[in-house]
Amino acid sequence: MGKDVIVACDFSSAEAVYSFLDKFTGKKPFVKIGMELFYAEGPDIVRQIKKRGHRIFLDLKLHDIPNTVKKAMAVLSGLDVDIVNLHAAGTTAMMEAALEGLTRPDGTRPLLIAVTQLTSTDQESMERDLLIHEPMAEVVIHYAETAKNAGLDGVVCSPMEAAAVHDRCGRDFLTVTPGVRFAEGDRGDQKRVMTPAEAKKIGSDYIVVGRPITAAADPVAAYERCVAEFTD
Ligand code: C5P
Repeated sequence: MGKDVIVACDFSSAEAVYSFLDKFTGKKPFVKIGMELFYAEGPDIVRQIKKRGHRIFLDLKLHDIPNTVKKAMAVLSGLDVDIVNLHAAGTTAMMEAALEGLTRPDGTRPLLIAVTQLTSTDQESMERDLLIHEPMAEVVIHYAETAKNAGLDGVVCSPMEAAAVHDRCGRDFLTVTPGVRFAEGDRGDQKRVMTPAEAKKIGSDYIVVGRPITAAADPVAAYERCVAEFTD
């Protein structure tokens, strides 16, 4: 899979996401379906968007005992999604079980990537609530390495971390990076942001872009600009 822009479809209903996707009459964007839409509409929303010809990153961030995650991943694999994810904090046994569950009888499977530390967790809350006292940058890289050693395909990380992840885990280990904004755009609640062109330069494999596209006056133009900046 090459470099691409993934559009975060953070809508709360099927109608809202269909009316957004209906605007794209040319290239069908790679879409991210998160918890909000999945819990509102159930697995059928995944089948319907897939049927419309989109590739799908199903962002449900699984984290449970290995057996439960293995069985849940087998169900998600049956939905024919392209990328799924989990929390690396579930440890190696959970990640290995997830891979087993995802692998279809014919040997194919969706890509599996890990969340390291959520970007909403900072050094202070990690030390206070999780009793982890290493520097955040090292924790993130260690989780990425653990995910790689378990056989995963990559991590979701801040664009600021992508280069370090590639240095430690290799160029083929995927970095999927949210927190992308156009140079003149509204940052919203994202604190550490990069433009699509900067994310390309530091080696992100996929950028996840939500509001700069979904809330744009012309979402198709915003998407095309994003693709041009990131891939050209
Ligand atoms: O609208 P915006 O471009 O900020 O959307 C970014 C998307 O990426 C959202 O769906 C958000 O939940 C997700 N995300 C993130 N930061 C992370 C992990 C996921 O912004 N660390």
